[in-house]
Order: sequence, then structure tokens, then C-alpha cells
Amino acid sequence: MREEIVILDFGSQFTQLIARRIRELNVFCEIYPYNKIPEINGSVKGIILSGSPCSVHDQDSPSIDLDQFRGSLPVLGLCFGAQLIAKSMGGEVERSNKREYGRANLSFVEGDNPLLKEIEENGQVWMSHGDTISHVAEKAKIIASTDHVNVAGYQVYEENTFGIQFHPEVFHTSQGLKIFENFIVGICGCSQNWTPGHFVDETVQDLKSTVGNDQVVMGLSGGVDSSVAALLLQRAIGDQLHCIFVDNGLLRKNEFEDVLASYQGMGLNIKGVDAKEEFYQALRGHSDPEDKRKAIGKTFIEVFERESKSIDGVKWLGQGTIYPDVIESVSVKGPSATIKSHHNVGGLPEKMHLKVVEPLKFLFKDEVRRVGQALELDLNILGRHPFPGPGLGIRILGEITPEKVRLLQDADDIYINILRETGYYDKVWQAGTILLPIQSVGVMGDERTYERVAAIRAVTSRDGMTADWAEIPHDVLSKISTRIINEVRGINRVVYDISSKPPATIEWE
Ligand code: XMP
Repeated sequence: MREEIVILDFGSQFTQLIARRIRELNVFCEIYPYNKIPEINGSVKGIILSGSPCSVHDQDSPSIDLDQFRGSLPVLGLCFGAQLIAKSMGGEVERSNKREYGRANLSFVEGDNPLLKEIEENGQVWMSHGDTISHVAEKAKIIASTDHVNVAGYQVYEENTFGIQFHPEVFHTSQGLKIFENFIVGICGCSQNWTPGHFVDETVQDLKSTVGNDQVVMGLSGGVDSSVAALLLQRAIGDQLHCIFVDNGLLRKNEFEDVLASYQGMGLNIKGVDAKEEFYQALRGHSDPEDKRKAIGKTFIEVFERESKSIDGVKWLGQGTIYPDVIESVSVKGPSATIKSHHNVGGLPEKMHLKVVEPLKFLFKDEVRRVGQALELDLNILGRHPFPGPGLGIRILGEITPEKVRLLQDADDIYINILRETGYYDKVWQAGTILLPIQSVGVMGDERTYERVAAIRAVTSRDGMTADWAEIPHDVLSKISTRIINEVRGINRVVYDISSKPPATIEWE
């Protein structure tokens, strides 16, 4: 049986980080809104209560009946979670009058406590709370303190119930991962077998029993997520998986041919569909970014639906959805309510009356890459930068024409190749070229030119939610600019985008 740690989300901005830390220990965990506690069966080995932007004293503060698992399962409360347990047991939680935000150092650690095994006194921890536990309950003891915070950690006597007021999930807590290891391996007894290989075996079995003898259709984009999802399905059901790769005319130079060849090399049952003209037709006259996105999404659905209909007896739609998308949609119902506008093509399964199968819905992006490695996904696809679904359609500002696409493809190809040659491709998170809707004056030889401007963008990021512009050395930038201007007729000026996200976004549209 798969072992699991349950994380109850009270709305902390760090909840996803808790899950990532636990996954780093090769243990499976899931995040649930605090008000949607799953059935606690034998597979659940322990429970973690997250932090929260709320105070335990707020009138509508999120709260749960801890007796349903306290005492019978190991429980670790973090920050608000720790305060919630403390208060429920008769401890005192007060508004803090001292600074309890940022770096702090542990001044006392109960060395033989199982949660704090090998945790050093003086080690750095990260605090972020407005309330503080002033007194622990009678049935509890203090196991860690800092200079300012007496109750940095506590344990309930004769129970595996712990609370810590700092955040072991953030990087600034230097031994945070060790604390999770102590809890999850030492106290909960998890066996750390949630490895990519294990995930592949388990998922393939699951997919076999879910899908059975049915046919599955899936659109591939050339990106890591859909490719890894397809490889898993292929392992489970072979040629019952029918992949469709659409050339929307907005891909990078030669990308359609190259990626299709990679897919065929991996033995996928795939059909390449040239729908360039259909997309250009649909985009004619549109220059507003949202209109363009809609036109591209609608055309994709039309093409995909038409192609799927030519496959007999399809019952399922395969999708490369990953865990952050799933958590976001769960959290909307829970307290953290981080609603991100999604750019995906929605409505397809309902429209086509298909059931959805999502083999990656429990994985973070870095885990998808590790699984891709275990499945020997073509390195060309595995290491690719993220690329938006609407492709170059949102990197040509204003109206899209086939000529502009060719211009941008040529400039972008030079840019990306130079990044690869100089080793910068793998150092940045995403890079791309944008064709601006303006012309500028230049001089080439003795002639005055009046041509287009290309902007090049490269960012560093962890997850695309925030990003910094990448510091590409001047000599590399100079080479890129010289080659684009010399080799791409129609572009006479290149600029480098030095905007971070926020306030800018990664894409220009
Ligand atoms: P922004 O521009 O919002 O981009 O900072 C964040 C990440 O999302 C990608 N992106 C998209 N992906 N459809 C997609 O599939 C879209 O419409 C879309 N818009 C942005 C972007 O490339 C970056 O990786």
C-alpha cells in the first residue's frame, strides 16, 4: 500500500513548499484544504498542519476537530498549525509584541527529542508570525527556543504530537529538511520509496486498470509534461494511446519536424497534423492578445476534435496536468484562494464527452523531469524551456502573418542556438524572442533602412510565478544582436528585455 503524509492547508503561502520538501525525501504526500480532510485509512502515516495568514483568535479562523487523529497518528503543526494545537489543549496564544519575522537562531534544543535529532543549537530558522504561543498546555513541554521566542517548538507528553513556530519548509531554515526527515522517517516510519522508478511502476499499473481496453487520445505539445504523460500511458496501454501533434504554424523554426521525429523515435503512436493555414486564417484581423489566444484555442479544439473523430471508440482524453494546477484548483475552495488565471485550452473533455486521465496530476515540475529521465525521454525534449501553448502567436505583438512568423522564427533560432553554444540555454529558465510592432531607422552600408525591432528575453525562475531577467554577458548579447541583424532581413535593431516579474510578465502578451 502507498504510504502517505497528509498536509492540511490552512492557507499558508508556504504549503506547497511543505509538500516539495517531503517529496524530496522520497515520501508521497498530498495537500488537502483543512475543511476537506480525507478518510484517514492505514496508508496515512502522519499529518502536518500548515501555517495560515489567519490568527487563531479571528472570529472566522479556520479550525478543525483535532481529536479525529491526535494521539492515534503523528501530528506536526507548523506556525499557525502549532498555535491551533496549543490553543485546543489549553495553551495560550497571544498577539506577539516582539519581532517574530525573519531569521532567528535556536538558543535551546532538546537534543534527545526525536523531532530534533541532530538539530544544532544556534542553527538558523525562519520565523513569520504575528501571534505567539506564550504558554504551552500542561500536557506539553518546550523542546526548542530562540532568544525571542520561548516556545519555538513543543511536544505533547506521551504523544507524537509536535508544534513548531518557525518554518522548516523554507530554505532559510538551515536544517529544515532534517526536521522533516526526523518527523516523516523517524516518527511516522515512512519508508522513502516514492522514487521515480516506483512512481512509474505504480502509475503504469494504475493506468492499466483504469483505462483497460479503451482507446485514449492525447494532444502533445513538444513540452515535457505532455511528453512524459504520453510515455507513461504508452507503457501502460501501448498503441491504445493515440497521440496528435498539431502544427499550428506558431512553433519555433523546424520544431514540428524535429519533435515529431523524436516522438516517432520513442515509438509513440503519433499523427502529425499540418494545420498552419487554418490557424493563420483564424488569426487574420486579430491584434488583441486575448482575442488571439481565444482564436488559437478555438482552432486547436476544432482541429483536435476533427482528428480524434477519425479514431474509433475513443473514451479518454490524456492530459499532462501537473500538481501545482491541481492544488490551485483545490485551494480555491479552501482558505488560501490563490486563483491564477490559467492559459490552458479548457472545455475539451466536456465538449467531446471524454473522461480525463492525468498521469502526472500528483507531480511537481522537477519530479516530472525525474520521471522523464527514468522513462528515457529524449534529452532534446527533457531539457526544453517552457513554451506557451499559443506559441509565437503571443510573441508577435499585434496581428500575425506568416511572414512575421518566418521573421521571428529565424531571429529566435539564431538566439536560441547561441544560447546553446555558450552554455546559457541550460542556465536560464526560459528564453525567447519577441517581434515588436514598430519599425525603426537604421543604416546598412550606405542605405537607410526602416525595419522591425526584435526584443530578446531570458529569465531565471523556479516555477514561472516570479522571474528575474537573466544576466547574459555582453559579448554573448553582442554576438546575438550582430548575427540577427546581419542574417535576418527585415530586422535592423535588437533590444534586451531587462524587466523582472512582477511587475512585468515573462511573455509580452
Ligand atoms: P507569464 O507571461 O504569465 O508566463 O509571466 C508564465 C509562464 O506561462 C507561460 N505562458 C503560457 N503558457 N498558454 C500557455 O500554455 C499561455 O497562454 C501562456 N501565457 C504564458 C509563459 O511562457 C511562462 O512560461
